Amino acid sequence: MIRLMNAADVASVAEIEKLVQSHPWNKKQFEEAVEGYQSTVLEQNGVVQAFCILQPVLDEANLLLMAVHPSQQGKGLGYQLLDQSVAMLKNNPVQIFLEVREGNTAAIKLYEKADFHQIDLRKNYYPKADGTREHAIIMVKSCTDDFSKLFN
Ligand SMILES: CC(C)(COP(=O)(O)OP(=O)(O)OC[C@H]1O[C@@H](n2cnc3c(N)ncnc32)[C@H](O)[C@@H]1OP(=O)(O)O)[C@@H](O)C(=O)NCCC(=O)NCCS
Repeated sequence: MIRLMNAADVASVAEIEKLVQSHPWNKKQFEEAVEGYQSTVLEQNGVVQAFCILQPVLDEANLLLMAVHPSQQGKGLGYQLLDQSVAMLKNNPVQIFLEVREGNTAAIKLYEKADFHQIDLRKNYYPKADGTREHAIIMVKSCTDDFSKLFN
């Protein structure tokens, strides 16, 4: 089941985040995401296995963060969650932006499958655990084939 994240999910979500990120968001950031953004979770048998945080901004949106529990990766859950979370956006965005580490092949492939494509490269954007830095790839997904929407 995919549903909106609530305050009771924050501990599980922060736990997943800690397992997958070298610089994880903390609980306070997730609490703020519940309040301020469109935050969703994928739950199976009462257990939160993945989360996705989208920030609607006017008629666009930013994908801020998403993750699937390591034990559940590679089973299609990330794609399912991303696809449905995008569909749940109430502002009906024209386009959605994201930034991803250049070395994060799994995420880049997932985003490409979800129709995002690279539009830019931000050099040395992310800190790495070894003290060096990594480029950010900027990707965008166009959400409409209706060009009239772009100009009205
Ligand atoms: C990136 C992430 C969310 C993908 O979720 P997932 O549930 O494992 O992905 P899915 O099983 O839905 O796969 C969807 C597509 O992504 C690609 N993909 C997923 N894992 C991959 C891997 N290890 N290597 C290459 N491509 C991969 C494939 O194209 C796949 O489609 P396919 O199965 O039709 O080939 C997950 O790996 C994760 O949580 N990573 C750690 C956190 C992270 O990097 N988040 C994103 C940046 S904020």
